[in-house]
Amino acid sequence: MIVPATPPAIADSAKKLRAGGLVAFPTETVYGLGTDATNAKAVAKVFAVKARPHFDPLIVHVASAEAARKLWKATPEIADKLIARFWPGPLTLILPKTKSIPDLVTAGLPTVAVRMPDHSVALQIISAAGCPVAAPSANRFGHTSPTTAQAVEEELGPEMLVIDGGPTRVGIESTVLAFEEAGPVLLRPGGVTLEQLTAVVGPVAVRARQQASPASPGLLDRHYAPATPLYILDRPDGIDGRWEPASRKIGALLLAPWILPFPVASAQILSQRGDLVEAASKFFQALRKLDKEGLDCIVASPIPAHGLGRALMDRLSRASSGWAHMIRGQLHLLRRPVPENSGNS
Ligand code: TXA
Ligand code: MG
Repeated sequence: MIVPATPPAIADSAKKLRAGGLVAFPTETVYGLGTDATNAKAVAKVFAVKARPHFDPLIVHVASAEAARKLWKATPEIADKLIARFWPGPLTLILPKTKSIPDLVTAGLPTVAVRMPDHSVALQIISAAGCPVAAPSANRFGHTSPTTAQAVEEELGPEMLVIDGGPTRVGIESTVLAFEEAGPVLLRPGGVTLEQLTAVVGPVAVRARQQASPASPGLLDRHYAPATPLYILDRPDGIDGRWEPASRKIGALLLAPWILPFPVASAQILSQRGDLVEAASKFFQALRKLDKEGLDCIVASPIPAHGLGRALMDRLSRASSGWAHMIRGQLHLLRRPVPENSGNS
Protein backbone atom coordinates (compact mmCIF):
# COMPACT_ATOMS: atom_id res chain seq x y z
CA MET A 1 0.00 0.00 0.00
CA ILE A 2 1.51 3.32 -1.10
CA VAL A 3 0.77 6.24 1.24
CA PRO A 4 1.91 9.85 0.74
CA ALA A 5 4.38 11.10 3.37
CA THR A 6 1.92 13.24 5.37
CA PRO A 7 2.42 13.92 9.12
CA PRO A 8 -0.27 11.36 10.13
CA ALA A 9 1.29 8.72 7.83
CA ILE A 10 4.71 9.40 9.36
CA ALA A 11 3.26 9.11 12.88
CA ASP A 12 1.52 5.83 11.95
CA SER A 13 4.66 4.33 10.44
CA ALA A 14 6.67 5.23 13.56
CA LYS A 15 4.02 3.46 15.65
CA LYS A 16 4.19 0.45 13.37
CA LEU A 17 7.99 0.30 13.73
CA ARG A 18 7.74 0.50 17.53
CA ALA A 19 5.26 -2.38 17.46
CA GLY A 20 7.74 -4.59 15.55
CA GLY A 21 6.28 -4.00 12.08
CA LEU A 22 7.89 -3.22 8.73
CA VAL A 23 7.66 0.07 6.83
CA ALA A 24 9.27 0.95 3.50
CA PHE A 25 10.37 4.59 3.41
CA PRO A 26 12.38 6.95 1.18
CA THR A 27 15.96 7.98 1.82
CA GLU A 28 18.16 10.18 -0.40
CA THR A 29 19.77 7.05 -1.92
CA VAL A 30 17.12 4.34 -2.45
CA TYR A 31 13.97 3.24 -0.59
CA GLY A 32 14.67 1.21 2.56
CA LEU A 33 12.66 -1.54 4.25
CA GLY A 34 12.75 -0.42 7.87
CA THR A 35 12.29 -2.16 11.18
CA ASP A 36 13.27 -1.57 14.84
CA ALA A 37 16.97 -2.55 14.88
CA THR A 38 16.82 -3.52 18.56
CA ASN A 39 13.97 -6.02 17.99
CA ALA A 40 15.43 -9.32 16.69
CA LYS A 41 12.00 -10.78 15.91
CA ALA A 42 11.12 -7.78 13.75
CA VAL A 43 14.50 -7.90 12.02
CA ALA A 44 13.93 -11.57 11.18
CA LYS A 45 10.83 -10.51 9.20
CA VAL A 46 12.96 -8.23 7.02
CA PHE A 47 15.21 -11.13 6.04
CA ALA A 48 12.12 -13.24 5.26
CA VAL A 49 10.34 -10.57 3.17
CA LYS A 50 13.49 -9.82 1.15
CA ALA A 51 14.45 -13.51 0.86
CA ARG A 52 17.81 -12.23 2.08
CA PRO A 53 20.42 -14.72 3.30
CA HIS A 54 21.20 -14.39 7.00
CA PHE A 55 24.90 -13.91 6.33
CA ASP A 56 24.21 -10.45 4.85
CA PRO A 57 24.23 -7.75 7.58
CA LEU A 58 21.89 -4.73 7.58
CA ILE A 59 22.60 -1.01 7.81
CA VAL A 60 21.16 0.71 10.90
CA HIS A 61 19.69 4.18 10.31
CA VAL A 62 19.76 6.93 12.93
CA ALA A 63 18.48 10.50 13.12
CA SER A 64 21.57 11.99 14.80
CA ALA A 65 25.29 11.41 15.30
CA GLU A 66 24.67 10.99 19.06
CA ALA A 67 22.33 8.07 18.35
CA ALA A 68 25.07 6.45 16.21
CA ARG A 69 27.65 6.83 18.98
CA LYS A 70 25.37 4.82 21.29
CA LEU A 71 25.50 1.86 18.88
CA TRP A 72 29.30 1.79 18.60
CA LYS A 73 31.72 0.84 21.38
CA ALA A 74 33.84 3.86 20.51
CA THR A 75 33.89 6.50 17.79
CA PRO A 76 37.43 7.16 16.56
CA GLU A 77 38.45 10.68 15.53
CA ILE A 78 38.49 9.72 11.85
CA ALA A 79 34.82 8.66 12.05
CA ASP A 80 33.93 11.93 13.78
CA LYS A 81 35.61 13.84 10.96
CA LEU A 82 33.63 11.92 8.34
CA ILE A 83 30.39 12.39 10.26
CA ALA A 84 31.00 16.14 10.55
CA ARG A 85 31.56 16.38 6.80
CA PHE A 86 29.09 13.88 5.30
CA TRP A 87 26.17 13.34 7.72
CA PRO A 88 23.34 13.44 7.10
CA GLY A 89 24.22 11.80 3.79
CA PRO A 90 25.03 8.68 1.78
CA LEU A 91 27.95 7.43 3.90
CA THR A 92 27.68 4.27 6.05
CA LEU A 93 30.35 3.73 8.72
CA ILE A 94 31.24 0.31 10.16
CA LEU A 95 32.62 0.11 13.72
CA PRO A 96 32.58 -2.38 16.63
CA LYS A 97 29.05 -2.62 18.04
CA THR A 98 27.61 -2.44 21.54
CA LYS A 99 25.17 -5.06 22.86
CA SER A 100 22.14 -2.93 21.93
CA ILE A 101 22.20 -4.33 18.40
CA PRO A 102 21.15 -8.00 18.05
CA ASP A 103 23.50 -10.37 16.20
CA LEU A 104 20.89 -11.00 13.51
CA VAL A 105 21.25 -7.38 12.31
CA THR A 106 25.00 -7.75 11.85
CA ALA A 107 24.98 -11.39 10.69
CA GLY A 108 27.01 -12.26 13.76
CA LEU A 109 29.75 -9.75 12.93
CA PRO A 110 31.21 -7.80 15.89
CA THR A 111 30.70 -4.57 13.93
CA VAL A 112 27.60 -2.58 12.96
CA ALA A 113 27.04 -0.42 9.87
CA VAL A 114 25.32 2.91 10.67
CA ARG A 115 24.22 5.90 8.66
CA MET A 116 22.13 9.06 9.03
CA PRO A 117 20.08 9.53 5.86
CA ASP A 118 19.68 12.97 4.29
CA HIS A 119 15.93 12.80 3.80
CA SER A 120 13.40 14.64 5.95
CA VAL A 121 10.81 11.82 5.76
CA ALA A 122 13.36 9.19 6.84
CA LEU A 123 14.62 11.40 9.66
CA GLN A 124 11.10 12.17 10.88
CA ILE A 125 10.12 8.48 10.89
CA ILE A 126 13.30 7.45 12.75
CA SER A 127 12.94 10.28 15.31
CA ALA A 128 9.26 9.54 15.90
CA ALA A 129 9.93 5.81 16.27
CA GLY A 130 12.56 6.61 18.89
CA CYS A 131 14.69 3.60 17.97
CA PRO A 132 17.53 2.90 15.52
CA VAL A 133 16.01 1.58 12.27
CA ALA A 134 17.58 -1.35 10.41
CA ALA A 135 16.82 -0.92 6.71
CA PRO A 136 18.16 -2.76 3.69
CA SER A 137 17.19 -1.53 0.24
CA ALA A 138 13.49 -2.38 -0.23
CA ASN A 139 13.94 -4.95 -3.01
CA ARG A 140 14.05 -8.72 -3.06
CA PHE A 141 17.59 -9.99 -2.55
CA GLY A 142 19.81 -9.62 -5.60
CA HIS A 143 17.27 -7.52 -7.52
CA THR A 144 17.45 -3.94 -8.78
CA SER A 145 17.18 -1.41 -5.92
CA PRO A 146 13.96 0.68 -5.77
CA THR A 147 14.17 4.46 -6.21
CA THR A 148 10.39 5.08 -6.25
CA ALA A 149 7.48 3.93 -4.06
CA GLN A 150 6.01 2.13 -7.09
CA ALA A 151 9.24 0.15 -7.55
CA VAL A 152 9.04 -0.94 -3.90
CA GLU A 153 5.50 -2.18 -4.46
CA GLU A 154 6.61 -4.12 -7.56
CA GLU A 155 9.33 -5.76 -5.48
CA LEU A 156 7.51 -6.45 -2.21
CA GLY A 157 3.83 -6.60 -3.19
CA PRO A 158 0.73 -4.50 -2.39
CA GLU A 159 0.54 -5.56 1.29
CA MET A 160 3.71 -3.71 2.26
CA LEU A 161 3.25 -0.20 3.71
CA VAL A 162 5.30 2.18 1.54
CA ILE A 163 5.66 5.83 2.55
CA ASP A 164 5.89 7.77 -0.72
CA GLY A 165 8.43 10.58 -0.77
CA GLY A 166 8.79 10.69 -4.57
CA PRO A 167 11.82 9.52 -6.56
CA THR A 168 15.06 9.45 -4.54
CA ARG A 169 17.62 12.20 -5.17
CA VAL A 170 20.96 10.31 -5.25
CA GLY A 171 19.61 7.12 -6.82
CA ILE A 172 22.38 4.69 -5.79
CA GLU A 173 23.10 3.32 -2.32
CA SER A 174 25.35 4.79 0.32
CA THR A 175 29.11 4.36 0.33
CA VAL A 176 30.10 1.70 2.88
CA LEU A 177 33.34 2.37 4.78
CA ALA A 178 35.06 0.16 7.34
CA PHE A 179 38.11 0.89 9.47
CA GLU A 180 41.11 -1.39 9.81
CA GLU A 181 44.35 -0.87 11.69
CA ALA A 182 45.97 0.37 8.51
CA GLY A 183 43.16 2.89 7.92
CA PRO A 184 39.78 3.28 6.22
CA VAL A 185 38.63 0.65 3.69
CA LEU A 186 35.96 1.24 1.03
CA LEU A 187 33.67 -1.83 0.97
CA ARG A 188 31.02 -0.45 -1.40
CA PRO A 189 31.34 2.63 -3.62
CA GLY A 190 28.22 4.80 -3.37
CA GLY A 191 26.77 8.29 -3.07
CA VAL A 192 29.87 9.79 -1.41
CA THR A 193 32.78 9.41 -3.84
CA LEU A 194 36.25 8.05 -3.09
CA GLU A 195 37.65 11.44 -4.09
CA GLN A 196 35.43 13.18 -1.51
CA LEU A 197 36.51 10.73 1.21
CA THR A 198 40.24 11.09 0.46
CA ALA A 199 39.94 14.86 0.58
CA VAL A 200 38.83 14.55 4.23
CA VAL A 201 40.79 11.55 5.60
CA GLY A 202 43.66 10.93 3.18
CA PRO A 203 44.27 7.55 1.53
CA VAL A 204 41.38 5.04 1.54
CA ALA A 205 42.01 1.41 0.64
CA VAL A 206 39.62 -0.11 -1.91
CA ARG A 207 38.51 -3.64 -1.13
CA ALA A 208 38.52 -5.88 -4.17
CA ARG A 209 35.22 -7.67 -4.79
CA GLN A 210 36.38 -11.25 -4.32
CA GLN A 211 37.97 -10.45 -0.96
CA ALA A 212 34.83 -8.75 0.26
CA SER A 213 32.39 -11.66 0.22
CA PRO A 214 30.90 -13.06 2.24
CA ALA A 215 31.84 -10.48 4.89
CA SER A 216 29.98 -7.84 2.85
CA PRO A 217 27.74 -9.73 0.49
CA GLY A 218 26.33 -6.55 -1.06
CA LEU A 219 29.55 -7.02 -2.92
CA LEU A 220 28.56 -10.43 -4.25
CA ASP A 221 29.31 -10.75 -7.93
CA ARG A 222 25.74 -10.86 -9.18
CA HIS A 223 23.52 -8.28 -7.52
CA TYR A 224 21.25 -5.39 -8.53
CA ALA A 225 20.27 -7.66 -11.41
CA PRO A 226 17.41 -7.26 -13.91
CA ALA A 227 15.65 -10.41 -15.17
CA THR A 228 16.72 -9.54 -18.74
CA PRO A 229 20.37 -10.45 -19.33
CA LEU A 230 22.52 -7.31 -19.45
CA TYR A 231 25.83 -7.03 -21.31
CA ILE A 232 28.39 -4.26 -21.11
CA LEU A 233 29.59 -2.93 -24.44
CA ASP A 234 33.35 -2.71 -24.61
CA ARG A 235 36.51 -3.41 -26.53
CA PRO A 236 37.41 -6.64 -24.76
CA ASP A 237 40.88 -7.02 -26.29
CA GLY A 238 42.30 -10.32 -25.24
CA ILE A 239 39.01 -11.72 -23.89
CA ASP A 240 38.24 -14.93 -25.65
CA GLY A 241 35.35 -17.32 -25.23
CA ARG A 242 32.25 -18.36 -27.13
CA TRP A 243 30.67 -15.19 -28.54
CA GLU A 244 27.02 -15.64 -29.51
CA PRO A 245 25.33 -13.33 -32.03
CA ALA A 246 22.92 -11.01 -30.18
CA SER A 247 19.23 -11.82 -30.57
CA ARG A 248 16.83 -9.33 -32.18
CA LYS A 249 15.16 -7.26 -29.50
CA ILE A 250 17.97 -5.28 -27.93
CA GLY A 251 17.55 -2.52 -25.34
CA ALA A 252 20.26 0.05 -24.67
CA LEU A 253 21.25 1.64 -21.35
CA LEU A 254 23.43 4.63 -22.18
CA LEU A 255 25.30 7.16 -20.07
CA ALA A 256 24.84 9.80 -22.79
CA PRO A 257 23.06 9.99 -26.20
CA TRP A 258 25.49 7.87 -28.19
CA ILE A 259 24.94 6.55 -31.68
CA LEU A 260 25.15 2.78 -31.62
CA PRO A 261 26.44 0.71 -34.54
CA PHE A 262 23.52 -1.73 -34.21
CA PRO A 263 19.72 -1.28 -34.16
CA VAL A 264 17.95 -1.15 -30.79
CA ALA A 265 14.27 -1.66 -29.94
CA SER A 266 14.44 0.71 -26.98
CA ALA A 267 16.96 3.00 -25.27
CA GLN A 268 17.33 4.70 -21.88
CA ILE A 269 19.68 7.67 -21.79
CA LEU A 270 20.88 8.42 -18.25
CA SER A 271 21.95 12.00 -18.93
CA GLN A 272 21.86 14.19 -22.06
CA ARG A 273 25.18 15.73 -20.97
CA GLY A 274 26.73 12.50 -19.67
CA ASP A 275 26.57 13.97 -16.17
CA LEU A 276 27.35 11.30 -13.55
CA VAL A 277 25.19 12.81 -10.77
CA GLU A 278 22.15 12.89 -13.04
CA ALA A 279 22.99 9.42 -14.38
CA ALA A 280 23.13 7.97 -10.83
CA SER A 281 19.73 9.44 -9.98
CA LYS A 282 18.17 7.72 -13.00
CA PHE A 283 20.16 4.49 -13.12
CA PHE A 284 17.98 1.94 -11.28
CA GLN A 285 14.74 3.33 -12.70
CA ALA A 286 16.09 3.14 -16.25
CA LEU A 287 17.18 -0.45 -15.67
CA ARG A 288 13.76 -1.29 -14.25
CA LYS A 289 11.98 0.26 -17.28
CA LEU A 290 14.07 -1.71 -19.78
CA ASP A 291 13.52 -4.88 -17.77
CA LYS A 292 9.73 -4.55 -18.30
CA GLU A 293 9.89 -4.28 -22.08
CA GLY A 294 10.23 -7.95 -22.95
CA LEU A 295 13.67 -7.45 -24.49
CA ASP A 296 16.00 -10.33 -25.39
CA CYS A 297 18.91 -8.49 -23.84
CA ILE A 298 20.08 -5.11 -22.57
CA VAL A 299 23.36 -3.65 -23.78
CA ALA A 300 24.91 -0.98 -21.55
CA SER A 301 27.62 1.52 -22.32
CA PRO A 302 30.54 1.31 -19.88
CA ILE A 303 30.80 4.19 -17.40
CA PRO A 304 34.15 5.86 -16.59
CA ALA A 305 35.15 4.82 -13.06
CA HIS A 306 35.77 8.18 -11.43
CA GLY A 307 33.57 10.14 -9.02
CA LEU A 308 30.06 8.67 -8.93
CA GLY A 309 30.98 6.67 -12.04
CA ARG A 310 32.88 4.26 -9.78
CA ALA A 311 29.66 3.35 -7.94
CA LEU A 312 27.68 3.23 -11.20
CA MET A 313 30.18 0.93 -12.90
CA ASP A 314 30.19 -1.23 -9.77
CA ARG A 315 26.38 -1.63 -9.96
CA LEU A 316 26.47 -2.11 -13.73
CA SER A 317 29.13 -4.82 -13.62
CA ARG A 318 27.24 -6.68 -10.86
CA ALA A 319 23.95 -6.38 -12.76
CA SER A 320 25.59 -7.73 -15.90
CA SER A 321 25.86 -11.23 -17.33
CA GLY A 322 28.91 -10.42 -19.46
CA TRP A 323 30.24 -8.49 -22.42
CA ALA A 324 28.82 -7.17 -25.68
CA HIS A 325 31.21 -6.62 -28.58
CA MET A 326 31.05 -5.82 -32.27
CA ILE A 327 32.53 -8.57 -34.40
CA ARG A 328 32.64 -7.95 -38.17
CA GLY A 329 29.85 -5.40 -37.99
CA GLN A 330 27.58 -7.59 -35.85
CA LEU A 331 26.84 -7.45 -32.15
CA HIS A 332 28.02 -10.52 -30.22
CA LEU A 333 27.56 -11.45 -26.56
CA LEU A 334 29.77 -13.35 -24.14
CA ARG A 335 28.61 -14.63 -20.74
CA ARG A 336 31.50 -13.83 -18.42
CA PRO A 337 31.77 -11.99 -15.07
CA VAL A 338 32.74 -8.36 -15.62
CA PRO A 339 35.50 -7.11 -13.30
CA GLU A 340 34.55 -4.02 -11.30
CA ASN A 341 37.37 -1.79 -12.55
CA SER A 342 36.48 -2.30 -16.21
CA GLY A 343 35.05 1.22 -16.43
CA ASN A 344 38.58 2.60 -16.17
CA SER A 345 39.36 4.21 -19.48
O1 TXA B 1 21.83 3.67 0.74
C1 TXA B 1 21.78 2.67 1.43
O2 TXA B 1 22.77 2.23 2.08
C2 TXA B 1 20.45 1.90 1.48
C3 TXA B 1 19.41 2.80 2.14
C4 TXA B 1 18.10 2.11 2.39
O3 TXA B 1 19.95 3.32 3.34
N1 TXA B 1 20.58 0.65 2.17
C5 TXA B 1 21.25 -0.41 1.64
O4 TXA B 1 21.22 -1.54 2.43
O5 TXA B 1 21.82 -0.38 0.57
P1 TXA B 1 21.60 -2.99 1.87
O6 TXA B 1 21.20 -3.91 2.95
O7 TXA B 1 20.99 -3.20 0.55
O8 TXA B 1 23.16 -2.98 1.80
C6 TXA B 1 23.93 -2.98 2.99
C7 TXA B 1 25.36 -3.28 2.65
C8 TXA B 1 25.56 -4.72 2.26
O9 TXA B 1 26.51 -4.76 1.21
C9 TXA B 1 26.10 -5.33 3.55
O10 TXA B 1 26.84 -6.49 3.28
C10 TXA B 1 26.95 -4.20 4.09
O11 TXA B 1 26.18 -3.05 3.80
N2 TXA B 1 27.16 -4.29 5.55
C11 TXA B 1 26.24 -4.05 6.52
N3 TXA B 1 26.77 -4.25 7.74
C12 TXA B 1 28.06 -4.60 7.55
C13 TXA B 1 29.14 -4.96 8.43
N4 TXA B 1 29.00 -4.97 9.75
N5 TXA B 1 30.34 -5.28 7.86
C14 TXA B 1 30.49 -5.27 6.51
N6 TXA B 1 29.51 -4.95 5.62
C15 TXA B 1 28.31 -4.63 6.14
MG1 MG C 1 20.59 -3.75 -1.41
